[in-house]
Amino acid sequence: MGTESDKTLGDGPVLIFDSGLGGLTVLREARYLLPYETLLYVADDAAFPIGRWAEEDLKAHLLSLFANLIAKHRPKAVVIACNTAFTLAGEALRKAHQKTPFVGTVPAIKPAAEQTSSGLISVLATPGTVRRTYTRSLIDSFASQCHVRLVGSDMLAELSEQHLRGEDVTDEALLAEITDCFLEQDDRRTDIVVLACTHYPFLANRFRKIAPWPVDWLDPAEAIARQLVRVLEGNAARAPSGEADRALFTSDPQDPGLSRLLVGFGLTLVRTG
Ligand code: DGL
Repeated sequence: MGTESDKTLGDGPVLIFDSGLGGLTVLREARYLLPYETLLYVADDAAFPIGRWAEEDLKAHLLSLFANLIAKHRPKAVVIACNTAFTLAGEALRKAHQKTPFVGTVPAIKPAAEQTSSGLISVLATPGTVRRTYTRSLIDSFASQCHVRLVGSDMLAELSEQHLRGEDVTDEALLAEITDCFLEQDDRRTDIVVLACTHYPFLANRFRKIAPWPVDWLDPAEAIARQLVRVLEGNAARAPSGEADRALFTSDPQDPGLSRLLVGFGLTLVRTG
């Protein structure tokens, strides 16, 4: 088997990865900023939800999955549109694929610390992202002057998928997952909640309706797409390639509802084989 340096890499699509539908929040921003780029959306839905996986298992799984994806699709860039995956395996993936530019997703703790007036910030994420050393070091480096509350949600990624698929998700179920984000201390209140899982922005309008008081729900999707533009630099497509933007799901679902949902994001669902 050849090493990566033996191959010509980078003549494929921009690959946008998540464990499920959450990365579509990033894909839609990338689409606005890079209208001619061919996109391949990869959802590792066979592994979903990855927020509950043990770290070593998940890291090994992601490294093996990406070895295949990169060899097969030769992406010109990869966007890991998933906090849970990137905070764990981002560094190892970059090391393993040095010719492939990676754009990552990490909890937006730095911008939250810059924007807060009250100094009380909450980070709403999967249990995995909340546990990461990466997340703790972001707080130490950028938000040591703030009170940062980490809120790990067991259910929200799945509730977001249900909401997107048009299934009933009650306010009570959502409120139970976000209540811990709201903190009052003396005469101060939490004023920013970082949406540190790419699934959550799909629920932001619901959160706004049920929140005990108004806060800024910070969604990093646009910033991630802008970083992709910077990384592509002169290599961005300047004319339509004529190729369709595709979506590939690792469980190979035969679901007409999913296909229709993806059409709304400009994607054609393709078979993994
Ligand atoms: N969308 C992923 C993230 O940004 C996580 C969803 C999951 O638990 O699989 O962290």
